Amino acid sequence: MYKKKSIKDMDVSGKRVFVRVDFNVPLNSKGQVTNDNKITQTLPTINYLLEQNAKIILCSHLGRPDGKVVAEYSLKPVAERLRKILKRPILMSADVIGTETHKLVKGMQPGDIVLMENVRFEAGEEENDPVFARKLSSIADIYCSDAFGTVHRAHASTAGIAKYLPSCAGLLISRELEILGSLLTTPKRPFVVVLGGAKVKDKIGMISNLINMADVILLGGAMAYTFVKAKGFAVGKSMIEPDKIELARLLLEKADNAGVKILLPVDNVVAQEFSFAADSRIVRTGAIAPSEMGLDIGPKTAELYAKQIQKAKTVLWNGPMGVFEFQKFASGTNSIAFSMAKCKGVTVVAGGDSSAAISNNKLDNEITHISTGGGATLQLLEGDKLPGIDVLADNI
Ligand code: 3PG
Repeated sequence: MYKKKSIKDMDVSGKRVFVRVDFNVPLNSKGQVTNDNKITQTLPTINYLLEQNAKIILCSHLGRPDGKVVAEYSLKPVAERLRKILKRPILMSADVIGTETHKLVKGMQPGDIVLMENVRFEAGEEENDPVFARKLSSIADIYCSDAFGTVHRAHASTAGIAKYLPSCAGLLISRELEILGSLLTTPKRPFVVVLGGAKVKDKIGMISNLINMADVILLGGAMAYTFVKAKGFAVGKSMIEPDKIELARLLLEKADNAGVKILLPVDNVVAQEFSFAADSRIVRTGAIAPSEMGLDIGPKTAELYAKQIQKAKTVLWNGPMGVFEFQKFASGTNSIAFSMAKCKGVTVVAGGDSSAAISNNKLDNEITHISTGGGATLQLLEGDKLPGIDVLADNI
């Protein structure tokens, strides 16, 4: 597992530190930041660098402007929000690595913060162009990566630049690697994994990898029905992936051989149509009528899964148990959120929908770690390498 140098292992005092952050925040039609989580998550690193009297150069992408300047993807609203949060000036550059950034960086004093314009305005970023990466590196003494949400991208500011500067992980990345790394190497047992979501195809890598680590895997969401079908039960009109039934059977077999329990829903909330207003009923698995589809786990399943979660010393949760956007079919997902909050062991939540279920129920403070990674977290849990982490200096 990854053991990378942290920003705390570097002498940063008075130095120009290039910090790659993930300020890819949602904006409304007026261009205002509607959720600043991604900004606040970088505060431990920024505050640490401020305490150390470093000169901080912040670099981020926003959206996918495809290597061109697109006004609506400017980082100006982010600079404004950061200014308010930190209650100090942010020197926002009008370009990425042009004359203005050079001028601002040249005039920096310890404790100054420069924010470059959206790095994806330059084609060299996503191409991981070495000339562009070198240009980025030319304005700094140290490269610090704290953009965990973007470390699965091999771009110039997330990977290429590390070739030209001493490099390390910021505090957000260090924490993600420590917690996710311990799940994959030394989880306290029993280690229970709760997996949901719509599609088996999105979760194959994760299930396959986690069978090697977990003691119990609890499945929910539409993807569970492909497994239910693989076991020979009727699933009615539930959203299954016919071409993945054989794979689901093989995964169940693999788990069996490894002594890992995979639990499937024992009851279901079903409806005749996919609608927030659809009439629903609860049926046991195997008794779903041909005209019905499963849209949530049932109360017996929620209770069964809650018992497993209570016994666990480590729990990882990724993916909703049903169509939680529709209130009628949100109980299963909410019940997992509350079970996670009650669990006394290490609890880790990964993925946007599961994190949203935790936040909607105001349970954030009851969870050990809510991963910030999206695609990056999933890639790590699948056992894949992350290019933006690979390039950082090892802590040996
Ligand atoms: C995200 O929001 O998931 C990250 O910022 C990565 O963005 P990307 O998918 O556009 O690379």
